[in-house]
Amino acid sequence: MASADIGLIGLAVMGSNLALNIAEKGYAIAVHNRTASKIDDFMVVAKEQGLDGKVVPEADIKAFIQSVKRPRSIIIMVKAGKPVDEMIEQLLPMLEQGDAILECGNSLYTDSQRRYDYLKTKGIGYLGIGVSGGEEGARHGPAIMVGGPEQQWKNAQPILEAISAKFNGEPCCAYLGEGGAGHFVKTIHNGIEYGDMQMIAEVYGVMRDGLGMSPKQASDVFVEWNKGALNSYLIEITGHVLAAVEPKTGKPLVDLIVDKAGQKGTGVWSAIVAQQLGVPATAIEGAVAARSISSRKDERIAAEAVYGKIATGKASVSLADLEKALLAGKIVSYAQGFAVMAKASEENGWNLPLATIAKIWRAGCIIRSRFLDQMSAAYAKGGADNLLMVPDFVEIMKDANQSLRRVVSAAALGEFPMICLSASLAYFDSYRQARGTANLTQGQRDFFGAHGFELSDRPGEQHGTWPSTLGK
Ligand code: 6PG
Repeated sequence: MASADIGLIGLAVMGSNLALNIAEKGYAIAVHNRTASKIDDFMVVAKEQGLDGKVVPEADIKAFIQSVKRPRSIIIMVKAGKPVDEMIEQLLPMLEQGDAILECGNSLYTDSQRRYDYLKTKGIGYLGIGVSGGEEGARHGPAIMVGGPEQQWKNAQPILEAISAKFNGEPCCAYLGEGGAGHFVKTIHNGIEYGDMQMIAEVYGVMRDGLGMSPKQASDVFVEWNKGALNSYLIEITGHVLAAVEPKTGKPLVDLIVDKAGQKGTGVWSAIVAQQLGVPATAIEGAVAARSISSRKDERIAAEAVYGKIATGKASVSLADLEKALLAGKIVSYAQGFAVMAKASEENGWNLPLATIAKIWRAGCIIRSRFLDQMSAAYAKGGADNLLMVPDFVEIMKDANQSLRRVVSAAALGEFPMICLSASLAYFDSYRQARGTANLTQGQRDFFGAHGFELSDRPGEQHGTWPSTLGK
């Protein structure tokens, strides 16, 4: 007897929390996991939370599928990559026309597009869904970015909206387009997340090494900043991370954490796709590069021995400038991320709703912030494509770019690395310069390869007559 409204396979941390969230919203959910003992563990937790009555545990995968009402929505929460393809093949013979697989991992959007195309030929819907907000979000309300066939989205819509985060009562969940659109948007979300995190880390570096502040002093500043224009989840948790004390030693925990950042792929994918689309995304690229440099600790130790340690405590920069520099860098980074989405939308025929994306990122997800509320309002008004040309943001940037400039200069002179913030400033200065320097590049290209150029005073492709020797 089919009794469940939805099914979920994969009871690791994210899967379990999503399942509990669904059950809590009053939907009956069937759950399955390859290792059956995980189902038992999950049921213990569900019982503790008084939700076991809404859960149908099934160790047998066929019985699991049969227990879900048709047309079926089956969430899969397995490791991205090959395990997803294997799971699809396993499920295919058991599913019926009109059923859908809802894949909620951090999948590469081209994989989601391929799976969508493949399952379409079988009459099965494939929804590639980006879920942001970590463990806590999955349990109490994540941001949900959906891509795939519209009909199957409509089948799952009430449940997905019910479990999503809410901003002023509006669900942070939206259908964004066909095929891989949902996972694409989640990838760019993560690229932006990398940028936000890296810019915060660069500012922390100035506080620590340039201004000689303790982690607790830096924490207090982030707590203050979280009350202003930078108000966001990432600024808030930075205050918490900097304040934590390691119990064994009594030292600030952050001082003991090894300075090598991990990465699972979404940041790199964002940078690659931006380059492929010909959209500059220097902040995201800088953030990815910073993580890669961070992981080369041995090389950095060797290089410091050669070039010498930076002199600490000599940054001449104010906290007010650091705050505004972060804001300016953030505006540039979001302008770039949204420009990548606009171009990808055009190339893939997705019709991505940019204002809606900004809206559903206002709560639940890792990059949630006050800024996104301002941004969604600005996009909703329409008019400009690039955030740097949206009137409200033009006003902020006119002022804040000066702070960014002072901070990047101080960092350059003080020898503090600032890959991401300096990349944001360089982008801003290039973007706002009507007469650039590519005329020289074009001349060089024509010189060595007869690649041609345009002249400003006549139509058509031209070539130069280049002197081969230079006399005095
Ligand atoms: C989210 C996060 C989440 C995960 C990142 C971490 O939106 O909830 O982005 O998906 O924390 O994938 O990525 P890295 O391990 O690459 O930092």
